[in-house]
Amino acid sequence: MAGETILVAGCGYVGSALAARLVEEGDRVFGLSRSPGALPQGVQPIAADLGDPKCARMLPEPLDRVFYTAAADDGSEAAYRRAYVDGLGNLLVALEVRPRPPRRVLFTSSTSVFHQSDGSWVDEASPTEPGHHRGRVMLEAEARLLQSPLVGVALRLGGIYGPGRTRLLESVRAGRATYDSRGPRYTNRIHRDDAASALIHLARLAQPAPLYLGVDDDPAERAAVLGWLARRLGAPEPRAEVGSGPLDAGKRCRNERLRESGWSPEFPSYRDGYAAMLAGSAPGR
Ligand SMILES: NC(=O)c1ccc[n+]([C@@H]2O[C@H](COP(=O)([O-])OP(=O)(O)OC[C@H]3O[C@@H](n4cnc5c(N)ncnc54)[C@H](OP(=O)(O)O)[C@@H]3O)[C@@H](O)[C@H]2O)c1
Repeated sequence: MAGETILVAGCGYVGSALAARLVEEGDRVFGLSRSPGALPQGVQPIAADLGDPKCARMLPEPLDRVFYTAAADDGSEAAYRRAYVDGLGNLLVALEVRPRPPRRVLFTSSTSVFHQSDGSWVDEASPTEPGHHRGRVMLEAEARLLQSPLVGVALRLGGIYGPGRTRLLESVRAGRATYDSRGPRYTNRIHRDDAASALIHLARLAQPAPLYLGVDDDPAERAAVLGWLARRLGAPEPRAEVGSGPLDAGKRCRNERLRESGWSPEFPSYRDGYAAMLAGSAPGR
């Protein structure tokens, strides 16, 4: 891919890590956001709002590959729709009519598309009937991408963590972390750098599938994650509380398709990723 012209649309936490890697590998990289402040060195900023159809005027031409990594401003349905359905749609409309369209468009979807709450294993073939608008809007955006004449790949990411994304860690350190005593709740995550490497891998893969789950190897119980962090931090043992509402055991996301395509995570478990963060040894991308 080196020497290509790449757009990272929504160049935030994951997008910047991705953009930095691509610059290192010799690509010409544009990082787009409404307020592109501190982008990694070598990434050329584009200030534009993807929610505005006119944003297409700001895009370089031609583009070899496009990564869509924009995120909603908040959890409301309107914000979700603007970021994922409208934003991605605006970009696709502009790219689809180009005489030389990009060879591939990668979209960061989410494991929130799954409704399963009984702790069962899910993969790309599992049903998705989300009760919440977050999952429904993501599915709509995926469908838009996969209906496009462009080659699109959606990567459903688990919870992203890594340097600077330390909310869980800080809640454990402060003794505020709790878990539901009524039963296990499975959680799925991926380290920022593994999300970036998976996207680059899929952008280069000869014959990608349209859909992948982007998670580590370890869909771990929340209580186990909190307990492990507490021991590493020397923090108080997280508290078990009787939860309210129906018991939600979550789901366990399988990364087999992504792994079998040739990708492997640098941080296969939360233990690897958090240990690197605590040691301060995670790359500072
Ligand atoms: N965070 C998670 O745990 C998680 C889990 C699953 C999937 N994902 C997905 O993974 C992707 C990357 O997440 P992230 O954590 O890297 O997100 P992030 O740090 O919030 O970055 C999102 C970027 O999108 C830009 N953006 C948002 N709306 C825009 C618009 N209308 N026009 C132009 N730029 C816009 C933001 O910059 P400005 O505000 O300056 O425009 C920001 O740079 C997102 O698609 C997210 O939905 C995240």
